[in-house]
Amino acid sequence: MTTGTKTTQGIRRKAGERDRLLRPDWQYIEHCNIDDYRREDWAIMNRQRAEYLAEERGRQALELLAASRDAPTFGYLINNYEHCLQTATMLYRDGHDEETIVTGLFHDIGFVVCPENHEKFAADLVRPFVSEKNAWMLEHHGIFQRIHLHGFFESDDPDFIHAREKWRGHPYFDWTAEFVERYDIAAINPGIESLPLEFFEPMVRRVFSGSTPLTRSSA
Ligand SMILES: [Fe+2]
Ligand SMILES: [Fe+2]
Repeated sequence: MTTGTKTTQGIRRKAGERDRLLRPDWQYIEHCNIDDYRREDWAIMNRQRAEYLAEERGRQALELLAASRDAPTFGYLINNYEHCLQTATMLYRDGHDEETIVTGLFHDIGFVVCPENHEKFAADLVRPFVSEKNAWMLEHHGIFQRIHLHGFFESDDPDFIHAREKWRGHPYFDWTAEFVERYDIAAINPGIESLPLEFFEPMVRRVFSGSTPLTRSSA
């Protein structure tokens, strides 16, 4: 039995081919329908999965972001990929900790593919690895951005524009407002040089693996 490979003929794999395991000494579960899995199969799966996620989760998140590297824009001077890099670069240059830089790097990863809910998309992506403060900030950054969107909505509904006010006094209000003002709405500037994605890769791996140096500040 051979390992599956990509072809240019329109067939990704021939019948019977498998994809490779991350580790050569791992086991395939020899069933073609999940309904046939039993307790002993799941024991193997879950053991291999834990190691797989520790290694692959950050790498595949980076690949997801990298997929939009050469995407066009719909009007902004730089594309969403550059926007994310610019945000991370600005956070790095201002001396923020690694988890905050990584939070910034992924803050708009779903902006094009999941625009209506991209805040939660990003928050859920990094939530297991970052502080509650940064996860909250991600989840709310779209609402906090509204006060900066002059003339964006026909009605200019003040309740909508100022929706962030319901969280005035919340412990993460100031950080969310600061992130939006300093590192989000200003990160569409082609005059600012961004560090490459490769620069942030070791940080992403460290943060996603939960290893040091990680600062889990929560206020
Ligand atoms: Fe956003
Ligand atoms: Fe953004």
